[in-house]
Amino acid sequence: MSAQAGKYFLATFGCQMNVYDSNLIGGMLEKRGMLATGEADEADVLIVNTCSIRGGAEDRAYARIAGMRYYKRRKPGVRIAVIGCMAQNHGDKIPVELDHVDYVVGPDNYRQLEGMLFQDRPKTAQVLTEQNAFENYEGIMARLDSAVTCHITIMRGCNKRCTYCIVPTVRGVERSREAASIVAEVERAVGEGVKEVCLLGQTVNSYRTADDDFPALLRKLDKIPGLERIRFTSPHPRHFDSETIRAMAESPKVCRHLHMPVQSGSNTMLKRMRRQYTRERFLEIVAEARAAIPGVGFTTDIIVGYPGETEADFAETLSLVEEVGFDSAYTFAYSPREGTPAFDEAETLTAAEKQERLERLIQAQFRISERNLEAMTGRVEEVLIEERATRNEGEWMGKTSCFKKVIFPHAPGLEKGSLARVLILSRSGLVLRGEALEAVEALEG
Ligand code: 5AD
Ligand code: SF4
Repeated sequence: MSAQAGKYFLATFGCQMNVYDSNLIGGMLEKRGMLATGEADEADVLIVNTCSIRGGAEDRAYARIAGMRYYKRRKPGVRIAVIGCMAQNHGDKIPVELDHVDYVVGPDNYRQLEGMLFQDRPKTAQVLTEQNAFENYEGIMARLDSAVTCHITIMRGCNKRCTYCIVPTVRGVERSREAASIVAEVERAVGEGVKEVCLLGQTVNSYRTADDDFPALLRKLDKIPGLERIRFTSPHPRHFDSETIRAMAESPKVCRHLHMPVQSGSNTMLKRMRRQYTRERFLEIVAEARAAIPGVGFTTDIIVGYPGETEADFAETLSLVEEVGFDSAYTFAYSPREGTPAFDEAETLTAAEKQERLERLIQAQFRISERNLEAMTGRVEEVLIEERATRNEGEWMGKTSCFKKVIFPHAPGLEKGSLARVLILSRSGLVLRGEALEAVEALEG
């Protein structure tokens, strides 16, 4: 029996790249007549898109997949696919542990998954994890999952070898999409009403084709009529040059926000992690961006408790966080990943010690986040309205260019996707509250 015209259910773990890949698969399946469903028990195909970045992410994915045995018992014709980074990482091991799984498919093999779902269901689990250094999914239009903002992967894979990271192993080498195809995908999204695009890549600013580099791509996208905002994540400090800062400063649609993972404030740790920059260089980029882009907001990723991290190294991270004044940070306790260069290094901290440092870092960051938000009161900010506020139907939720969440009451002439000029009145937790002044004229095409 083929899966044609059935319903598919997709559960996605991990980063925005996985969310985009799920939308790619959604795009492929819907083109062939399948319908998305949010109810797993009415689906003919269940797909779990998995993450391997830390041990906890894999544990959650295993638990979710194990729970899907129930749907197969109820409806034996159901097909179950495990895809994404953990599928690539664990391959054959998955159907051994979870014998209700029909397909295990790595990030370079989604075209084959589409084909297999429209053939007879296999008698034994199919495992497709061959890596393909050229697979960019050119020509496939990802499903749009928001009416206002869309994410578009512009480069896949990673050529860095940060010692703690599993990504280069599971996502393969770096490859960039042609600018023309990115422009076409953004134009299509804008045609459907999307106002903001977020460009995705593991080291998004090392984007490069024969004709374009990252700053050139920003400048091209900045010219797309009807597009209001451009964001990107995550740039690598090693590739963050002055031309990128200039392109950001000179492209009115590029938001005044930089999410730039620093990982540690200690040069000893940065070197051992093979990050290819120093604390001083990171601070130099921050200073240069601040000078060129008034009001730019910084956010970051930080790992605590890497093997050998002393209290003095950790203090350097705390002082860097203070010195930059990040608006927010994703903070992680180091999680050893088999297959990474750091896996053989003995851990020097217990789980409790890592947790204790993590909590101190979160506390420090929280105070800075509050301070930065409070400094915004009294300002007028341009806010892109994303949706109704969850707690109050009569209020909008949107974000400033510098990526701060703002909630404000409805006002005439505003709707989802409008740009509003909002007077910031106060901070409530980690969101700002304000009052709309008037709808901002759409930026000139
Ligand atoms: N342990 C903890 N955090 C990690 N990250 C990547 N690998 C690990 C690991 N082994 C974090 C980094 C990266 C973010 C996506 O996840 O901070 O920027
Ligand atoms: Fe992992 Fe480093 Fe590549 Fe980021 S740059 S995906 S942390 S190896």
